[in-house]
Amino acid sequence: MNQRVNPLRKADQVRRMRISVLGTGYVGLVTGLCFSELGHEVLCIEKIPERVDMLRKGSCPIHEPGVKKLLTKHLKKGTFEVTDTTDDLPETEITFICVGTPSRKDGSMDLSSLRGAANDVGKALRRKRGYHVVTVKSTVVPGTTETVVLPSLERSSKKKVGRELGLAVNPEFLKEGSAVEDFMRPDRIVIGAVDEKSKAVVRSVYEQFDCPIVEVTLPTAEMIKMASNAFLAAKISFMNEIGNICKTMGIDVREVARGMGYDRRIGSQFLRAGAGFGGSCFPKDVSGLATEARARGLRPLMLESTLEVNRLQPLRMIELLENHMKIRGKKIAVLGLAFKPDTDDTREARSRIVIAELLKKGARVRCHDPQAMENFRREFPKLDYRSTPEECVRGSDAVLIVTEWPDYAAPGLYGSKLVIDGRGVVRTENYEGICW
Ligand code: UDX
Repeated sequence: MNQRVNPLRKADQVRRMRISVLGTGYVGLVTGLCFSELGHEVLCIEKIPERVDMLRKGSCPIHEPGVKKLLTKHLKKGTFEVTDTTDDLPETEITFICVGTPSRKDGSMDLSSLRGAANDVGKALRRKRGYHVVTVKSTVVPGTTETVVLPSLERSSKKKVGRELGLAVNPEFLKEGSAVEDFMRPDRIVIGAVDEKSKAVVRSVYEQFDCPIVEVTLPTAEMIKMASNAFLAAKISFMNEIGNICKTMGIDVREVARGMGYDRRIGSQFLRAGAGFGGSCFPKDVSGLATEARARGLRPLMLESTLEVNRLQPLRMIELLENHMKIRGKKIAVLGLAFKPDTDDTREARSRIVIAELLKKGARVRCHDPQAMENFRREFPKLDYRSTPEECVRGSDAVLIVTEWPDYAAPGLYGSKLVIDGRGVVRTENYEGICW
């Protein structure tokens, strides 16, 4: 699987480092376990006691291929530990901060967890004798590590960055659903650091990989991550716009994407037009960067359009439906609640916008998702949840496919019912594609 892992270096030939990871959310857990898999000893620090208990028992709080297997393996080997205190943090050589930076109402990033983490790490490091590197993995607006993390660390640790403390930024590029694979086969590793010494420690964590290592300053590393996500998001919105134009001309945008993708300057990935992007990163990172640009007196036209196309795109499904029927009082089946397949994550999922609009227009909505119904139900307890796609489709007046789960690919499921397909999952008798 790990084509890019240098075959000359087996885990037992690599210098085993003691690493602490703050936060066992999506990024923290995958990162921690993958470090163990690379041959390091990992201590994960998590504040929520139930989560600590769960992980210690080997039970996996996220739905992500490969994570459960790594958790079982490294708990057993003793190369992965979870704790709820920072007591043993000074025993490690390097700490990775992997806490969430969610969006605030104004689009900027909420840094309260990051501030808290920097403060906790600093306090724990007061007791440390010897050098320690703190590395920010959380996605942040450029400048944050220098202006927020650095002073907080120095204040709480009573130590100086550049002397007893090292400081670095090392962004992640993990996609949900293939996070372990993405970690183990990186296209590049980005290391931003205050000095050569910090850089060298971070580099040695990744000794096994032979991919390009991009060594830059702290804010440059932060910007590489944000610009990468913004670019990918823009690529999707761009294709959605082209797709909307294609639809009016009787052209299938998927064929256009195929023809474009062979051009190596364009690349074939992230050209899938559809109902738009969701998830915990793209929407948050693009608005975080746009908000920062505005605060600096700029007008981030590309970023704003990326978000605007993405807000309107799911509503196109409703417009297409309205061309066929008056929505009020109709039973509409919504298939797919997760922001993409192979996850139970519903954050910023386009299903939210589709469902809210259907309800506003007086539809009787029933929905299904193979993994994400439990998460969705927590926020929308009153929706009509159906346990199978068949049950959801049966008796409905029309079907809207919002997530491309393979479960929805059987044309037989729909008979002659109207299907509005937001992802290109299926082709049925009575069919309307969002951009084709
Ligand atoms: C993304 C980035 O890919 C990853 O590098 C970063 O670290 C975190 O954010 P993720 O949010 O897990 O990862 O999912 P991704 O597979 O990138 O998809 C994001 C959204 O874009 C999904 O809603 C997906 O349906 C949509 N998408 C993706 C498209 O609409 N078209 C595409 O061509 C690709």
